[in-house]
Parts: sequence; structure tokens; C-alpha cells
Amino acid sequence: MLTQSNMVAKAWQALEDSLVYYEGRPVGTVAARDPDVEALNYNHCFVRDFVSSALIYLMKGKPEIVRNFLIETLALQSEIKQMDCFNAGQGLMPASFKVVSSYGKQYLTADFGEHAIARVTPVDSSLWWIILLRAYVKATGDFDLAHRADFQRGIIEILKLCLADRFDMFPTMLVPDGSFMIDRRMGVYEHPLEIQALFYATLRGARELLAADRQGDIYRQFISQRLNTLNFHIREYYWLDLKRLNDIYRYRGEEFGETAVNKFNIYPDSIPYWLTEWMPDTGGYLAGNLGPARMDFRFFAQGNLLSIICSLSSTKESQWIMDLIEQRWDALVGCMPMKVCFPAVEGLEWKILTGCDPKNVPWSYHNGGSWPVLLWPLVAAALKTGRTDLAQRAIKIAEQRIAEDQWPEYYDGKNGRLIGKEARKYQTWTIAGYLVAKELIDNPKNLELFSFDEDIESLAWSCPTSF
Ligand code: GLC
Repeated sequence: MLTQSNMVAKAWQALEDSLVYYEGRPVGTVAARDPDVEALNYNHCFVRDFVSSALIYLMKGKPEIVRNFLIETLALQSEIKQMDCFNAGQGLMPASFKVVSSYGKQYLTADFGEHAIARVTPVDSSLWWIILLRAYVKATGDFDLAHRADFQRGIIEILKLCLADRFDMFPTMLVPDGSFMIDRRMGVYEHPLEIQALFYATLRGARELLAADRQGDIYRQFISQRLNTLNFHIREYYWLDLKRLNDIYRYRGEEFGETAVNKFNIYPDSIPYWLTEWMPDTGGYLAGNLGPARMDFRFFAQGNLLSIICSLSSTKESQWIMDLIEQRWDALVGCMPMKVCFPAVEGLEWKILTGCDPKNVPWSYHNGGSWPVLLWPLVAAALKTGRTDLAQRAIKIAEQRIAEDQWPEYYDGKNGRLIGKEARKYQTWTIAGYLVAKELIDNPKNLELFSFDEDIESLAWSCPTSF
């Protein structure tokens, strides 16, 4: 096995090799550089993937690339995005972009989902963009960039998209399937947790970034209201622990009106059997999704970790999520931190939910595969909740294989022991994620770049909270 410092040096080399240059300036990193597999769109710079690279550059005092990225992607936001009648909403940020050259001139071409496999909408890109802008401003103090007219316009375009009235009564954001890291059909449509956590962090970030003018003040008010209701809704209705499971188990159905206890008409029979054994006595987590007669009981790692990081979960809930991860370590972390979701869907459920997707067979890829990029949110959540031991343990596990396996995109199997069947090697967010995790352990103060404390402003509102 390589020594730790060798591993870090190798990771830096691989990260620098992944840089994308535009007119001589670094503007991003490609998704992967696997020499043995056809690139497809892995030679694009993905917004969500770049966040891991951006964070390590910010932590290391090299903000230039992040600044360039923010400027170039902002310019893409206002592009006319139409192909074959697929039309991206105004304000949407691209899933990815690429530099192309023609007649000696360079251009950026973006994909807003109109080229992506299955034409999925990258809802998370716009959210990550604001979270990243805030991290950049925190690292550099460069409020001038965020206050530039084009940046204020960009932020407001995103807020308009997020806060628009729709055919939905919930404070959570309604999205189509595959609109975030899990960008394939996996039954993650409607109100998936990961999007809600990103939405929450985005609103909190935007509130800090909006200029102190009339328009900024108006949006700040909308934001505070929404933060309050979103926070209440998630803490109250998404939370699952043994007590809540007992409540749901004894729910009555078909309740009408204001006094309904079972507000979403969740039928007890929909509680999966595995959960009644798996839920520890102490510990809990936020459900994957909630809608009419639908609670997705699967554990989604990124949504839970981000909820801790941005204080969408309460202090006690955050501790309990980490307790659950500790007690179910073998299932959730196993041989590579960590599973994107647990458990995998199998059999008929797999057929119906994924549309028979051969890439998402049980315990592979998005369907229970292990993603090393999740190491940094795991370490961040562990540090935020004072569980340094868990952070160190996770890094140690990753270090046993990650570099020697050449930085795979994901691992397969119930315990994450196999390199993913179709995983790319030299996957940039695996590389950058490892560096971010190491840097966070060495300098936990870096957590402040992307984390949020409990939101006092929104707690001042009148909605009750669960814990
Ligand atoms: C896959 C992942 C997605 C990632 C992309 C590029 O499509 O599902 O989350 O952004 O690869 O790495």
C-alpha cells in the first residue's frame, strides 16, 4: 500500500491532470480520465462533480479556478437551450459543459439535460452553483463578485425557478426522476431528500449573497418564510426512528381534515420488513422521499449527510443519524465509504422502479453501490457532530484501496468490495473527494466554507419543531 503522503501526492497529480482550460485559464475539471473506456460525456466538466474539486482548491488558497468556473457557468445560464423540442427552464444551470475548438477559436458548449442519457433535468446544478458561490466568497471575502449585477441576476433567476408556485402544496421542491447525483430512473421523483437538503442550503446561501437593496430585501423575506416551513416539514415528517416507526405501524388510514395524524395517508403495510429489524433502538434518519401515500424508507446517504451539514436536521437528529451510521457501519460503509442508498431494490421492484436498468442492478451503481465521493460529506458530517473517530475510520478504510484501485467512480456488492462493473477509473470527484476529506481532518475550520449552523432567523417563526 502507498504511504499516506504518496497517496495525497498522487491524488494531486491526478487532479491537476483533469483540469479543463478555456482561453488559457483553468475553468473546471473533467468528470473522469479513464484511458481504457470511451469517454462519452465523462470528458465534460459536470457542475455537481466540480464541487469536490472546487472545495479543495478553495481550501488550498487557489480560488482562481473556482472564480473562472462561476463566471463561465453563469454565462451559460442565459443561453437559449433548445433541442428537439426539449426546453430547459430559464435560470437552469447546465449539468455539464465542454470546451470545443473551431477555426482556431474556443467555445463552451453546455448540456442542460437535452443530450444527457434519458434527458434528465439537472435540478441540483443550480443549487450547487449558489452553494459554491457562497463557499468562494467565504474563502476569499470577494463579495464584489457576488454583488456584480450579472451575479445578482443569476442568483435571482435560480430563486425564481426554485420558489415558483406550482401544482404542489408542500414547501419541499417537486422534481422529476434523476434530477441530481442519482441521474437515472430510481424512483427518486417527487420530493427526494437530497434535493431538499440542497434547496435548504441554497436558500441559506442566497440569503447571505443577495445585495442589500430593495430586490434583495424582498427575496430575503421569501427565503426566510420558505426556510422556516421547509425546515419544519422535513424535521416533522421525514424523520424516522423506532418511535416514529411504531407510530406509523399503528397509523389509521383515510383520515380527513385538520385533525388527521397520518397526514400523508401512509399505509402501515408499506413499511418494508427489513426496516423493522434494521432500525436501531437509538439512532434514526430522514426518509428518502415523502408524498401522498408514499414514504420512501430507503436510506439515502447524500441527503442525510447534507442535512447534517446545512443544519436542515436538528442537532439531536444529526447526532442520531451519525449514531445510525455507526451502528449500521457494515451495511452503509462496509469496504468503501459509502453506499449511495440502502438497501438495493431487487426483483419485480427493481423492474418497475428502474425500468429494468442493467446498470442499476441490485448493489451496483445508484442501486446500493458505494461511492467514494461520499467520503467528504461523511467526514464533514462526522466532524460537524463531533464524531472525529468516525471520520478517521472512514478515511482509513478508503485509503486501503482507493489509490491502488485507481480512484474508481463506484464500487459494487453488499459490502462494496468489488470495483463497479462499469465504473470509470481516475474519476475526478473520487480523487478530489479524498483530498477534501483529508484536508477537513487536518483543518476542520474548512467546514465553515460549506456548512451552516442552526438557522436562528427561521426558528424565530411560529411553526413548531419536532425535536
Ligand atoms: C454519472 C453520475 C452523476 C455524475 C456523472 C459524471 O452520471 O450518476 O452523478 O455527475 O456520472 O461523473
